[in-house]
Amino acid sequence: MKLIVCKDYEEMSLEGAKIAIEQLKAKPDSVLGLCTGSTPIGMYADLVKANKAGEISFKKVKTYNLDEYYPIEPTNINSYRYFMNDNLFLHVDIDLNNTNVPQGNVKDPYEEAKRYEEAVRADRQMDIQYLGLGNNGHIAFNEPAENLELKTHVTGLTESTIQANLRFFPDGDIPTKALTMGIGTIMSAKRIVILINGKKKHEALMKLLDKEYVSTAWPCTMLKFHPDVTVICDKEAYEG
Ligand code: GLP
Repeated sequence: MKLIVCKDYEEMSLEGAKIAIEQLKAKPDSVLGLCTGSTPIGMYADLVKANKAGEISFKKVKTYNLDEYYPIEPTNINSYRYFMNDNLFLHVDIDLNNTNVPQGNVKDPYEEAKRYEEAVRADRQMDIQYLGLGNNGHIAFNEPAENLELKTHVTGLTESTIQANLRFFPDGDIPTKALTMGIGTIMSAKRIVILINGKKKHEALMKLLDKEYVSTAWPCTMLKFHPDVTVICDKEAYEG
């Protein structure tokens, strides 16, 4: 596991973007696994800049997002589909048909989870899977539990995650379920890059960096079983 400690959020975002920029320069038809949340917003802005400056192109890029609330319409501003369009896809030269987010407005979420897992697996291997980190150590929506699921699945959100994400839903109407890649889906990527900022993430970051500790109570600790993980954090998250 490689650790990069940055002085602040801006530097963390740039470091995260640098990896994607190098990746797309070396392999323009890369498959990227993407994450949402407030953490990657700066990195996506940096990627938009690089695209507008002609440094990289997304024309041949395919993307798979980690997760989506359920139920939610893609037009809802709090949906992860809306977030991705708004922060990245609509500002770069990507073909929207090459972007994938689990569909939060289907009748049967279990069928959708199965379809999404098959789509990820049938495609070329993801070159990079980007991740954020929940305060409680969740990755995507793989919440602390006795058992973690390997494949894309439907999950309930923990009270702590609902409280943490409520800030995006001012009317309080936050879905309590989600569709999420499983730990195995995430680990199937060639490389994993996890971005972590702010004091609130300190405890989870320490669990992730502790070489002696693995527990489903802190889902991020499963990343220790992946051979190519880069942790990019800011000083606040690192020092607590
Ligand atoms: C959500 C997402 C995660 C994300 C986490 C952290 O729960 N499902 O993928 O990593 O929030 O969000 P933030 O970056 O806003 O702290």
